[in-house]
Amino acid sequence: MQTSRGVFLNDEAQVLGRGHFTRATGLVRDGEVVGVSNLRHRLTRKLKLDGGSIGYGIRPSARGHGLAAVLLGRTLDRARSMGLREAWVTCAKTNLASAATIARNGGTLMSEAFIESRGEVVQRYKIELGGRGGRD
Ligand SMILES: CC(C)(COP(=O)(O)OP(=O)(O)OC[C@H]1O[C@@H](n2cnc3c(N)ncnc32)[C@H](O)[C@@H]1OP(=O)(O)O)[C@@H](O)C(=O)NCCC(=O)NCCS
Repeated sequence: MQTSRGVFLNDEAQVLGRGHFTRATGLVRDGEVVGVSNLRHRLTRKLKLDGGSIGYGIRPSARGHGLAAVLLGRTLDRARSMGLREAWVTCAKTNLASAATIARNGGTLMSEAFIESRGEVVQRYKIELGGRGGRD
């Protein structure tokens, strides 16, 4: 899939972990993977608290150019096409770049809580997808 910004999404792998399928997707620019996202097809209670439906990261050398919003947006498109009605995305409260990325993609802050194992406050956002809701 080619995006409007001239970068590509590549399906890297689909793996089964802890009872839920995860689709890992690479964001490729000029032949180089500049970001990776994980789309979890099914949310466990634990993932709803911390981890969410989608995780993502942009290579440090490629940050600051709007690629995170593209990567999350295209991963949400995938989730939508799979029929998910909503996606939960979590991020540390101090992760302002991630919070901005989620907001740019329509995320609504649902709650925040201190997660003992992480030693920090984690925010939970919901993004409405308008899908059929068959697999979330
Ligand atoms: C979070 C991360 C994905 C952002 O990647 P990025 O490519 O630098 O982000 P973008 O350039 O697309 O910027 C996203 C938004 O954050 C804002 N932003 C970037 N750095 C920021 C900072 N230090 N403080 C505040 N806002 C910042 C940008 O202005 C942009 O906001 P806008 O869309 O309103 O203009 C990247 O820092 C990363 O991979 N971090 C490590 C993994 C991680 O934290 N993943 C998220 C898990 S929830």
